Amino acid sequence: MSVLLTNIGLLATQDPELGELTDAAIVLSDDRTAWIGPSARAPAADEQADLDGRAVLPGFVDSHAHLVFAGDRAAEFAARMAGTRYVAGGIQTTVAATRAASDDLLRANLARLARELLVAGVTTFECKSGYGLDVPQEQRSLRLASEFTPETTFLGAHVVPPEVVREDYLASVCGPMLAACAPHARWIDAFCEDGAFSVDECRLVLQAGLAAGLGARLHANQLGPGPGVGLAVELGAASADHCTYLTSADVDDLATGSTVATLLPLVEFSTRSPYPDARTLLDAGAAVAIATDCNPGSGYSTSMPLAIALAVREMRMTPREAVYAATMGGAAALRRDDIGRIAVGQRADLTVLEAPSYIHLAYRPGVPLIAQVWRSGVRVV
Ligand code: NIG
Ligand code: FE
Repeated sequence: MSVLLTNIGLLATQDPELGELTDAAIVLSDDRTAWIGPSARAPAADEQADLDGRAVLPGFVDSHAHLVFAGDRAAEFAARMAGTRYVAGGIQTTVAATRAASDDLLRANLARLARELLVAGVTTFECKSGYGLDVPQEQRSLRLASEFTPETTFLGAHVVPPEVVREDYLASVCGPMLAACAPHARWIDAFCEDGAFSVDECRLVLQAGLAAGLGARLHANQLGPGPGVGLAVELGAASADHCTYLTSADVDDLATGSTVATLLPLVEFSTRSPYPDARTLLDAGAAVAIATDCNPGSGYSTSMPLAIALAVREMRMTPREAVYAATMGGAAALRRDDIGRIAVGQRADLTVLEAPSYIHLAYRPGVPLIAQVWRSGVRVV
């Protein structure tokens, strides 16, 4: 089954060789992109759609989200807007609600958020555990997450639950909990922060995950400066996430290592924190991704377009850099080479904008500009 999309005003492929094409057409064959070229020379296909001058981008790749949870923390958000500081301890509220929820309720919440992401143009998303914090609950979270995405992350090291002695909890995360969760996870993550886990504890957790065959990623330098980014780079983690407070040594590490700096501007928005210094990271040559971090505590938004607008307005990224970070950047943070750009042979994941250019994502913030979404060659929005 093939589909021809013609009359694309601007095809922003994110592919380093193809770049941006005007008056373009693209043929999707089964789940892949099969042809790209000028509209005037487009071949025939089983079906055809005229995009009437709209801009087309690769589907967004959201490399950081926490979607297995129950309840919300709207009151905590309101208190924060009235002056209360965000602290890691709020996670316990969601842990209690999640533990009490049925599989069906968690699954329905996941389905709702996955749909929100899709409508926002996200065709691949990562999903973490971390609101179960015991062996059966963490395993259940990952089993449910795997029903929605292959990019699942074991985040047992989110915080220490109140009922367990710290040393015992760490031993479980690195032992029986990891063993129960690894079959349902591709990645391991830890929250390296005051109020969560120390750098030495995170090293133990990530090393245990790596030894079990998982890839490493790390929540680092979110609430203050610290050694998290250094640890992520030292271990060759795929991604260091947040990077809100960086020293020049951290920037150098990220610029020279293989770790992607994943920036989460919706969290700075929702916690009223300073935004990370994307300009310095990009100028130093670091690989940068933008993701939503959708979670009920520090930022409850699935809007990749809003994250892009914030990256441009508040983090001094150009619209082009922000779109690249939300597509190719996310793919790099997940170490995926089949998604994040539009090129022949790539998975046919596309976002069609109700606009002639991706600049409108930042120029018209908050406006629903996602007109169509195609995933694996099928129109899903
Ligand atoms: O990425 N930093 C740790 N985890 C989430 C927040 C989780 C929560 O507050 O529930 C984050 O910000
Ligand atoms: Fe997070």
